[in-house]
Amino acid sequence: MEQPIRYHLIKKEKHTGARLGELITPHGTFPTPIFMPVGTQASVKTMAPEELQEMGATVILANTYHLWLRPGSPLVKEAGGLHQFMNWKQGILTDSGGFQVFSLAKRRGITEEGVTFKSHLDGRLMFLSPEKAIHIENDLGPDIMMSLDECPPFFESYDYLKASVARTSRWAQRGLQAHRNPNSQGIFGIVQGGGYEDLRRQSAQDLTSLDFAGYSIGGLSVGESKAEMNHVLEFTTPLLPENKPRYLMGVGTADSLIDGVIRGIDMFDCVLPTRIARNGTCMTSQGRLVVKNAQYAHDFTPLDPNCNCYACRNYSRAYIRHLLQVNETFGIHLTSYHNLYYLIHLMSQIRQAIQDDNLLDLRAQVFEQYG
Ligand code: GUN
Ligand code: ZN
Repeated sequence: MEQPIRYHLIKKEKHTGARLGELITPHGTFPTPIFMPVGTQASVKTMAPEELQEMGATVILANTYHLWLRPGSPLVKEAGGLHQFMNWKQGILTDSGGFQVFSLAKRRGITEEGVTFKSHLDGRLMFLSPEKAIHIENDLGPDIMMSLDECPPFFESYDYLKASVARTSRWAQRGLQAHRNPNSQGIFGIVQGGGYEDLRRQSAQDLTSLDFAGYSIGGLSVGESKAEMNHVLEFTTPLLPENKPRYLMGVGTADSLIDGVIRGIDMFDCVLPTRIARNGTCMTSQGRLVVKNAQYAHDFTPLDPNCNCYACRNYSRAYIRHLLQVNETFGIHLTSYHNLYYLIHLMSQIRQAIQDDNLLDLRAQVFEQYG
Protein backbone atom coordinates (compact mmCIF):
# COMPACT_ATOMS: atom_id res chain seq x y z
CA MET A 1 0.00 0.00 0.00
CA GLU A 2 1.30 3.43 -0.90
CA GLN A 3 1.72 5.97 1.90
CA PRO A 4 -0.74 8.90 1.70
CA ILE A 5 2.19 11.16 2.65
CA ARG A 6 5.31 10.97 0.52
CA TYR A 7 8.49 12.98 0.04
CA HIS A 8 10.26 13.61 -3.23
CA LEU A 9 13.84 14.91 -3.04
CA ILE A 10 14.52 17.29 -5.94
CA LYS A 11 18.03 18.46 -5.19
CA LYS A 12 20.63 19.02 -2.49
CA GLU A 13 22.40 22.32 -2.12
CA LYS A 14 26.06 22.16 -3.14
CA HIS A 15 27.70 23.56 0.00
CA THR A 16 25.33 22.49 2.80
CA GLY A 17 22.97 19.66 3.75
CA ALA A 18 19.92 21.63 2.55
CA ARG A 19 17.28 19.75 0.54
CA LEU A 20 14.84 21.05 -2.03
CA GLY A 21 11.89 18.70 -2.29
CA GLU A 22 8.17 18.12 -2.41
CA LEU A 23 5.77 16.98 0.27
CA ILE A 24 2.99 14.97 -1.35
CA THR A 25 -0.30 14.92 0.63
CA PRO A 26 -3.97 14.12 -0.08
CA HIS A 27 -4.56 17.91 -0.11
CA GLY A 28 -1.80 18.84 -2.55
CA THR A 29 1.90 18.64 -3.33
CA PHE A 30 3.93 21.37 -1.65
CA PRO A 31 7.52 22.54 -2.17
CA THR A 32 9.87 22.09 0.81
CA PRO A 33 11.47 23.40 2.99
CA ILE A 34 8.31 24.99 4.44
CA PHE A 35 7.23 26.96 7.46
CA MET A 36 3.83 25.92 8.85
CA PRO A 37 1.71 28.58 10.61
CA VAL A 38 0.17 27.37 13.87
CA GLY A 39 -3.61 27.28 14.23
CA THR A 40 -3.81 25.76 17.70
CA GLN A 41 -7.60 25.82 17.99
CA ALA A 42 -8.41 25.34 14.29
CA SER A 43 -7.65 28.97 13.52
CA VAL A 44 -4.35 30.75 12.88
CA LYS A 45 -4.99 33.61 15.29
CA THR A 46 -6.60 36.63 13.53
CA MET A 47 -6.08 35.11 10.05
CA ALA A 48 -8.65 33.95 7.49
CA PRO A 49 -7.73 30.79 5.54
CA GLU A 50 -8.00 32.79 2.30
CA GLU A 51 -5.32 35.19 3.57
CA LEU A 52 -3.01 32.33 4.50
CA GLN A 53 -3.43 30.82 1.07
CA GLU A 54 -2.85 34.21 -0.58
CA MET A 55 0.50 34.65 1.21
CA GLY A 56 1.67 31.18 0.18
CA ALA A 57 1.02 29.04 3.27
CA THR A 58 0.59 25.40 2.27
CA VAL A 59 0.45 23.28 5.45
CA ILE A 60 -0.90 24.58 8.75
CA LEU A 61 -0.79 23.04 12.19
CA ALA A 62 -3.49 22.35 14.76
CA ASN A 63 -3.34 20.90 18.25
CA THR A 64 -4.90 17.61 19.32
CA TYR A 65 -4.79 18.63 22.99
CA HIS A 66 -6.83 21.83 22.56
CA LEU A 67 -9.32 20.43 20.04
CA TRP A 68 -9.84 17.33 22.17
CA LEU A 69 -10.85 19.58 25.11
CA ARG A 70 -12.90 21.97 22.94
CA PRO A 71 -14.96 21.38 20.83
CA GLY A 72 -14.07 17.68 21.13
CA SER A 73 -13.02 15.45 18.24
CA PRO A 74 -16.52 13.94 17.71
CA LEU A 75 -17.83 17.39 16.77
CA VAL A 76 -14.98 17.98 14.30
CA LYS A 77 -15.64 14.54 12.83
CA GLU A 78 -19.33 15.38 12.54
CA ALA A 79 -18.34 18.55 10.61
CA GLY A 80 -16.48 16.34 8.12
CA GLY A 81 -13.00 16.77 9.60
CA LEU A 82 -10.76 19.78 10.24
CA HIS A 83 -10.42 20.76 6.57
CA GLN A 84 -14.19 21.14 6.22
CA PHE A 85 -14.73 22.53 9.71
CA MET A 86 -12.26 25.42 9.28
CA ASN A 87 -12.48 25.75 5.48
CA TRP A 88 -8.75 25.10 4.84
CA LYS A 89 -8.22 23.29 1.56
CA GLN A 90 -4.49 22.53 1.72
CA GLY A 91 -2.38 20.53 4.16
CA ILE A 92 -3.05 20.13 7.88
CA LEU A 93 -0.75 18.59 10.48
CA THR A 94 -1.77 17.93 14.08
CA ASP A 95 0.55 17.69 17.04
CA SER A 96 -0.28 14.73 19.26
CA GLY A 97 -0.88 16.52 22.54
CA GLY A 98 2.30 15.21 24.13
CA PHE A 99 4.06 18.56 24.17
CA GLN A 100 0.96 20.49 25.29
CA VAL A 101 0.29 18.11 28.18
CA PHE A 102 3.83 18.70 29.36
CA SER A 103 3.74 22.46 28.88
CA LEU A 104 0.13 23.39 29.81
CA ALA A 105 -1.51 20.79 32.01
CA LYS A 106 -1.02 20.40 35.77
CA ARG A 107 -0.48 17.33 37.91
CA ARG A 108 0.87 14.97 35.27
CA GLY A 109 1.48 11.33 35.85
CA ILE A 110 3.30 9.30 33.24
CA THR A 111 3.00 5.54 33.15
CA GLU A 112 3.68 2.96 30.48
CA GLU A 113 -0.01 3.14 29.57
CA GLY A 114 -0.08 6.92 28.94
CA VAL A 115 -0.27 10.28 30.63
CA THR A 116 -2.82 11.42 33.22
CA PHE A 117 -3.24 15.13 33.76
CA LYS A 118 -5.64 17.85 34.79
CA SER A 119 -7.15 20.00 32.06
CA HIS A 120 -5.76 23.55 32.09
CA LEU A 121 -9.34 24.77 31.50
CA ASP A 122 -11.39 23.26 34.33
CA GLY A 123 -9.09 20.93 36.22
CA ARG A 124 -10.91 17.85 34.94
CA LEU A 125 -8.83 14.67 35.14
CA MET A 126 -7.87 13.50 31.65
CA PHE A 127 -6.00 10.49 30.30
CA LEU A 128 -4.16 10.33 26.99
CA SER A 129 -2.61 7.16 25.62
CA PRO A 130 -0.78 6.70 22.32
CA GLU A 131 -3.83 4.86 20.92
CA LYS A 132 -6.21 7.54 22.13
CA ALA A 133 -4.09 10.34 20.63
CA ILE A 134 -4.14 8.64 17.23
CA HIS A 135 -7.89 7.97 17.45
CA ILE A 136 -8.55 11.64 18.25
CA GLU A 137 -6.31 12.60 15.32
CA ASN A 138 -8.15 10.11 13.10
CA ASP A 139 -11.39 11.94 13.98
CA LEU A 140 -9.82 15.38 13.42
CA GLY A 141 -8.68 14.16 10.00
CA PRO A 142 -5.42 16.06 9.27
CA ASP A 143 -3.12 14.84 6.49
CA ILE A 144 -0.26 14.35 8.96
CA MET A 145 -0.53 13.18 12.58
CA MET A 146 2.14 13.08 15.27
CA SER A 147 2.47 10.06 17.49
CA LEU A 148 2.26 10.66 21.24
CA ASP A 149 5.68 11.42 22.69
CA GLU A 150 7.16 12.65 25.91
CA CYS A 151 9.05 15.93 25.56
CA PRO A 152 11.24 16.10 28.68
CA PRO A 153 13.37 19.15 29.55
CA PHE A 154 16.59 19.34 27.49
CA PHE A 155 18.71 19.14 30.64
CA GLU A 156 16.95 16.14 32.21
CA SER A 157 19.28 13.44 33.56
CA TYR A 158 20.74 10.88 31.18
CA ASP A 159 18.98 8.01 32.96
CA TYR A 160 15.60 9.69 32.81
CA LEU A 161 16.02 10.58 29.12
CA LYS A 162 17.11 7.04 28.30
CA ALA A 163 13.98 5.53 29.86
CA SER A 164 11.82 8.25 28.30
CA VAL A 165 13.18 7.63 24.79
CA ALA A 166 12.48 3.91 25.13
CA ARG A 167 8.90 4.62 26.24
CA THR A 168 8.34 7.14 23.44
CA SER A 169 9.48 4.44 20.98
CA ARG A 170 7.00 1.93 22.42
CA TRP A 171 4.27 4.58 22.30
CA ALA A 172 5.14 5.29 18.65
CA GLN A 173 4.71 1.64 17.74
CA ARG A 174 1.38 1.45 19.62
CA GLY A 175 0.12 4.58 17.81
CA LEU A 176 1.07 3.14 14.43
CA GLN A 177 -0.86 -0.04 15.21
CA ALA A 178 -3.94 1.90 16.36
CA HIS A 179 -4.15 3.95 13.12
CA ARG A 180 -7.62 3.66 11.56
CA ASN A 181 -7.18 5.67 8.31
CA PRO A 182 -3.91 4.51 6.74
CA ASN A 183 -5.13 5.42 3.25
CA SER A 184 -5.75 9.08 3.95
CA GLN A 185 -3.50 10.09 6.87
CA GLY A 186 0.20 9.62 7.59
CA ILE A 187 1.90 9.41 11.00
CA PHE A 188 5.28 10.90 11.89
CA GLY A 189 7.44 9.46 14.68
CA ILE A 190 9.17 11.97 16.97
CA VAL A 191 12.88 11.59 17.72
CA GLN A 192 13.77 12.59 21.30
CA GLY A 193 16.90 12.16 23.41
CA GLY A 194 17.86 15.64 24.64
CA GLY A 195 21.46 16.57 23.88
CA TYR A 196 22.82 13.00 23.99
CA GLU A 197 24.06 11.61 20.69
CA ASP A 198 23.65 7.96 21.69
CA LEU A 199 20.05 8.54 22.87
CA ARG A 200 19.15 10.42 19.67
CA ARG A 201 20.69 7.52 17.71
CA GLN A 202 18.69 4.96 19.70
CA SER A 203 15.50 6.97 19.23
CA ALA A 204 16.07 7.39 15.47
CA GLN A 205 16.94 3.71 15.12
CA ASP A 206 13.80 2.59 17.00
CA LEU A 207 11.54 4.87 14.94
CA THR A 208 13.10 4.32 11.52
CA SER A 209 12.69 0.56 11.98
CA LEU A 210 8.95 1.31 11.87
CA ASP A 211 7.23 2.56 8.72
CA PHE A 212 6.44 6.17 9.58
CA ALA A 213 5.51 8.62 6.81
CA GLY A 214 8.08 11.06 8.13
CA TYR A 215 10.22 11.93 11.13
CA SER A 216 10.00 14.82 13.56
CA ILE A 217 12.80 16.04 15.75
CA GLY A 218 11.39 17.06 19.12
CA GLY A 219 12.74 18.21 22.44
CA LEU A 220 14.54 21.20 20.91
CA SER A 221 14.06 24.96 21.28
CA VAL A 222 13.12 24.29 24.91
CA GLY A 223 15.78 26.41 26.61
CA GLU A 224 19.05 25.09 25.18
CA SER A 225 21.35 27.40 23.20
CA LYS A 226 21.22 27.72 19.42
CA ALA A 227 24.67 26.13 19.24
CA GLU A 228 23.38 23.14 21.22
CA MET A 229 20.35 22.79 18.96
CA ASN A 230 22.50 22.96 15.83
CA HIS A 231 24.85 20.37 17.28
CA VAL A 232 21.95 17.96 17.96
CA LEU A 233 20.63 18.50 14.42
CA GLU A 234 24.08 17.82 12.98
CA PHE A 235 24.21 14.33 14.39
CA THR A 236 20.47 13.57 14.22
CA THR A 237 19.35 14.34 10.65
CA PRO A 238 21.93 11.96 9.11
CA LEU A 239 20.24 9.16 11.08
CA LEU A 240 16.96 9.72 9.21
CA PRO A 241 16.02 8.24 5.83
CA GLU A 242 16.65 10.43 2.77
CA ASN A 243 13.33 9.56 1.18
CA LYS A 244 11.11 10.84 4.00
CA PRO A 245 10.35 14.36 5.27
CA ARG A 246 12.07 15.73 8.40
CA TYR A 247 10.23 18.12 10.65
CA LEU A 248 11.88 20.25 13.34
CA MET A 249 9.14 20.98 15.88
CA GLY A 250 8.58 24.38 17.47
CA VAL A 251 11.29 26.39 15.71
CA GLY A 252 10.49 29.70 14.01
CA THR A 253 13.18 32.36 14.20
CA ALA A 254 14.72 33.40 10.88
CA ASP A 255 18.25 32.35 11.88
CA SER A 256 17.16 28.95 13.26
CA LEU A 257 15.10 28.20 10.14
CA ILE A 258 18.14 28.71 7.92
CA ASP A 259 20.42 26.77 10.25
CA GLY A 260 17.87 23.93 10.37
CA VAL A 261 17.55 23.81 6.57
CA ILE A 262 21.36 23.74 6.27
CA ARG A 263 21.30 20.60 8.44
CA GLY A 264 18.68 18.86 6.31
CA ILE A 265 15.33 19.90 7.84
CA ASP A 266 12.28 20.16 5.52
CA MET A 267 9.46 21.38 7.77
CA PHE A 268 9.12 23.83 10.67
CA ASP A 269 6.31 25.25 12.80
CA CYS A 270 6.21 27.84 15.55
CA VAL A 271 3.76 30.12 17.36
CA LEU A 272 6.46 32.81 17.50
CA PRO A 273 5.42 34.97 14.48
CA THR A 274 1.78 35.21 15.55
CA ARG A 275 2.54 35.38 19.30
CA ILE A 276 4.99 38.29 19.08
CA ALA A 277 2.67 39.98 16.55
CA ARG A 278 0.05 40.24 19.27
CA ASN A 279 2.40 42.24 21.46
CA GLY A 280 3.48 44.49 18.64
CA THR A 281 6.77 42.92 17.56
CA CYS A 282 7.53 42.44 13.87
CA MET A 283 10.10 40.32 12.04
CA THR A 284 11.60 42.49 9.32
CA SER A 285 14.45 42.55 6.82
CA GLN A 286 16.14 44.94 9.28
CA GLY A 287 15.71 42.69 12.31
CA ARG A 288 13.02 42.87 14.98
CA LEU A 289 10.89 45.99 15.11
CA VAL A 290 8.72 46.77 18.13
CA VAL A 291 6.12 48.89 16.36
CA LYS A 292 4.41 49.70 19.67
CA ASN A 293 7.40 51.83 20.67
CA ALA A 294 6.93 55.61 20.92
CA GLN A 295 9.63 56.20 18.30
CA TYR A 296 7.16 55.06 15.58
CA ALA A 297 4.34 57.44 16.54
CA HIS A 298 5.07 59.72 13.55
CA ASP A 299 6.61 57.11 11.25
CA PHE A 300 4.50 56.85 8.11
CA THR A 301 6.67 54.21 6.43
CA PRO A 302 5.64 50.52 6.27
CA LEU A 303 6.62 47.92 8.91
CA ASP A 304 9.31 46.67 6.51
CA PRO A 305 10.26 48.80 3.48
CA ASN A 306 11.42 45.61 1.71
CA CYS A 307 8.19 43.69 2.30
CA ASN A 308 5.45 43.31 -0.27
CA CYS A 309 2.75 41.98 2.08
CA TYR A 310 -0.77 43.35 2.39
CA ALA A 311 0.07 45.19 5.62
CA CYS A 312 3.23 46.79 4.24
CA ARG A 313 1.63 47.75 0.92
CA ASN A 314 -1.25 49.57 2.63
CA TYR A 315 -0.48 50.72 6.16
CA SER A 316 2.11 52.71 8.10
CA ARG A 317 3.95 52.02 11.34
CA ALA A 318 2.22 55.06 12.87
CA TYR A 319 -1.23 53.73 12.00
CA ILE A 320 -0.49 50.19 13.21
CA ARG A 321 1.04 51.56 16.42
CA HIS A 322 -2.12 53.59 16.98
CA LEU A 323 -4.34 50.52 16.47
CA LEU A 324 -2.29 48.53 18.99
CA GLN A 325 -2.34 51.46 21.43
CA VAL A 326 -6.16 51.62 21.46
CA ASN A 327 -6.62 47.83 21.28
CA GLU A 328 -8.20 47.74 17.84
CA THR A 329 -7.98 44.10 16.71
CA PHE A 330 -7.13 45.15 13.15
CA GLY A 331 -3.68 46.10 14.50
CA ILE A 332 -2.76 42.57 15.59
CA HIS A 333 -4.26 41.26 12.37
CA LEU A 334 -1.82 43.41 10.37
CA THR A 335 1.23 42.48 12.47
CA SER A 336 0.25 38.78 12.34
CA TYR A 337 -0.20 38.98 8.57
CA HIS A 338 3.18 40.61 8.14
CA ASN A 339 5.11 38.22 10.41
CA LEU A 340 3.68 35.11 8.75
CA TYR A 341 4.36 36.59 5.33
CA TYR A 342 7.93 37.33 6.40
CA LEU A 343 8.66 33.69 7.35
CA ILE A 344 6.78 32.19 4.39
CA HIS A 345 8.60 34.54 2.03
CA LEU A 346 11.91 33.69 3.74
CA MET A 347 11.27 29.99 3.08
CA SER A 348 10.63 30.74 -0.57
CA GLN A 349 13.95 32.64 -0.71
CA ILE A 350 15.59 29.65 0.96
CA ARG A 351 14.18 27.28 -1.68
CA GLN A 352 15.47 29.57 -4.44
CA ALA A 353 18.90 29.71 -2.76
CA ILE A 354 19.02 25.88 -2.64
CA GLN A 355 18.16 25.83 -6.33
CA ASP A 356 20.94 28.36 -7.01
CA ASP A 357 23.48 26.79 -4.58
CA ASN A 358 23.96 30.05 -2.67
CA LEU A 359 22.24 29.34 0.64
CA LEU A 360 25.28 30.44 2.67
CA ASP A 361 25.05 33.90 1.06
CA LEU A 362 21.41 34.14 2.13
CA ARG A 363 22.42 32.96 5.61
CA ALA A 364 25.05 35.72 5.89
CA GLN A 365 22.46 38.28 4.80
CA VAL A 366 19.86 37.14 7.37
CA PHE A 367 22.42 36.88 10.18
CA GLU A 368 23.48 40.45 9.49
CA GLN A 369 19.86 41.56 10.01
CA TYR A 370 19.43 39.55 13.19
CA GLY A 371 23.02 39.79 14.46
N1 GUN B 1 6.48 20.87 19.72
C1 GUN B 1 7.71 21.37 19.98
N2 GUN B 1 8.53 20.40 20.46
C2 GUN B 1 7.79 19.27 20.52
C3 GUN B 1 8.07 17.91 20.95
O1 GUN B 1 9.17 17.57 21.38
N3 GUN B 1 7.03 17.02 20.87
C4 GUN B 1 5.79 17.37 20.40
N4 GUN B 1 4.83 16.45 20.35
N5 GUN B 1 5.51 18.63 20.00
C5 GUN B 1 6.49 19.55 20.06
ZN1 ZN C 1 4.95 43.15 5.44
